[in-house]
Amino acid sequence: MNKEQRPPGLPFELERVLITREQIATRIVELGAEIDRDHADQEELHLVGVLKGAFILMADLARQIQTPHTVDFMALSSYGKAAVSSGAVRILMDLRDPIAGKHIILVEDIIDSGQTLFYLQETLRSRHPASLKTCVLLEKTRSQLDVKIDYLGFTIPDVWVVGYGLDLGERFRTLPYIAEIKP
Ligand code: IMP
Ligand code: MG
Repeated sequence: MNKEQRPPGLPFELERVLITREQIATRIVELGAEIDRDHADQEELHLVGVLKGAFILMADLARQIQTPHTVDFMALSSYGKAAVSSGAVRILMDLRDPIAGKHIILVEDIIDSGQTLFYLQETLRSRHPASLKTCVLLEKTRSQLDVKIDYLGFTIPDVWVVGYGLDLGERFRTLPYIAEIKP
């Protein structure tokens, strides 16, 4: 194994670092610039982050976006990977403010089956924003549902990853890198 992929202090449950903090930081600068370029005509953006997984991404991305913007959050629950095909996604905490007429950037940590994003996009669209774009940090290669992603950080293999907001049973969220769990 490449030594650089196993930094000192990497928890033993983790197999290797997939994306380093430097790679994440570089990509987020690029994503912020893309979002600014696409919204040069808009006076203001409204960033909608999905808790908990996107909280760190939201903080870093929001600070890279020069277009004036406000932020809001919502929290969802899905019923675990086994139940994903049931399509059961529930709003645990809704947005503070209406989004009608606003230019929305939905900020999500990861897309796997696409169920969560599909539901989110439908829900937000039904509230009549002026526009709705989606920024996702990670996409697993097997995403099947037809969900539109406008800004994508990285495509990763179909493995469980943690760090940079992502968890395994609430652990590892605040690691500065994205790491793969041991099989
Ligand atoms: P989907 O609905 O199948 O696309 O799953 C998306 C949600 O599952 C994300 O918002 C995450 O909360 C969670 N998730 C999927 N894959 C991972 C992973 O590898 N690590 C941590 N959370 C994940
Ligand atoms: Mg999530």
